[in-house]
Amino acid sequence: MSHVSSLSRDVPLLERYRQFLPITDQTPIITLHEGNTPLINAPRLAANLGVRELWLKLESMNPTGSFKDRGMVMAIAKALEAGSKAVVCASTGNTSAAAAAYAARTGLECIVVVPAGKIALGKLAQALMYGAKLLVIEGNFDQALDMVRALAEAHPITLVNSVNPYRLEGQATAAYEICDALGDVPDYLALPVGNAGNISAYWMGFQRYHAAHLVESAPKMLGFQASGSAPIVHGAPIAHPETLATAIRIGNPASWQLAVNARDESGGLIDHVSDDEIVAAWRDLAALEGVFCEPASAAGVAGIRKLMREGRGDAGGRYVAVLTGHGLKDPQLAVEQFTVPAPIPAELDALERVLNL
Ligand code: F0G
Repeated sequence: MSHVSSLSRDVPLLERYRQFLPITDQTPIITLHEGNTPLINAPRLAANLGVRELWLKLESMNPTGSFKDRGMVMAIAKALEAGSKAVVCASTGNTSAAAAAYAARTGLECIVVVPAGKIALGKLAQALMYGAKLLVIEGNFDQALDMVRALAEAHPITLVNSVNPYRLEGQATAAYEICDALGDVPDYLALPVGNAGNISAYWMGFQRYHAAHLVESAPKMLGFQASGSAPIVHGAPIAHPETLATAIRIGNPASWQLAVNARDESGGLIDHVSDDEIVAAWRDLAALEGVFCEPASAAGVAGIRKLMREGRGDAGGRYVAVLTGHGLKDPQLAVEQFTVPAPIPAELDALERVLNL
């Protein structure tokens, strides 16, 4: 039994969920061992939030440290199948890391366009190390996305942002995994919303599993934008989005309508959380459960806390919060939350003195 399950862990994501993916005999089964991420119970944080059951889907454990690898492996496989030689994306950092990695793995050229000064250091390091052609614009993500859409229309370069439908197909595998792990659907799925692809992909995935009679219902989708970047909540694009959660610093999401459909069809909601609420949830995830995600990833937990505080939550519910990216991508912001102590002499009594021992 354990032998079989350890073998199945090595099956590439595209193979494991092949029947739910747009894979043909011509699609190359590429992999960096994405997917199959842990779903861990979080009892201390659940008690802190006041909910019965909370699970954390650790998408940070993907090969480039974010959920983007699921969509990217599918998009790059289809680009290869179509004979493409180059891919392009706009990014707040994680999409570019994933695109650059899978392009490197398969010998494609990769162009990434990112907003100046608003990319976490680890993500910048990834694009550079994986050998992407990095372009930094004096503008934000929304402007970068407009630029690369136009570029891909005018030249033989495949766009691998989530407007590429293969991205959402790949990302839907996270919903399949949650159902497979729980043997059922949770009552609520909470996650951050930026360009709004992921909430749309999850909803598509849960609906597919339901339609295939693998689960008996679908969860309510709870999406959370940062308060300074909450166009869906306000019902209008935001020209100058701001938030310290740079991954979701987006003012005009490409999958806006799909996200609204996911919200309405599931009976869920899309709300906003302040940067202070995001930081508090981010720190609690690390300090109460030993899970270090990036700031944007904490928006789902911040949102559950807000709903509970305002009496709109469900104390008896079973929640899954998706932790979309790894904390080590943005170490600077983490360290800035604290005062790093001044050095002490390298002697035992100095240590004992500081520890009051
Ligand atoms: N969490 C993280 C860590 C992200 O990087 C993103 C999006 C999201 C949440 C939001 O997901 O866009 O599907 O609603 N990052 C994109 C990027 C925009 O370029 O890496 P979404």
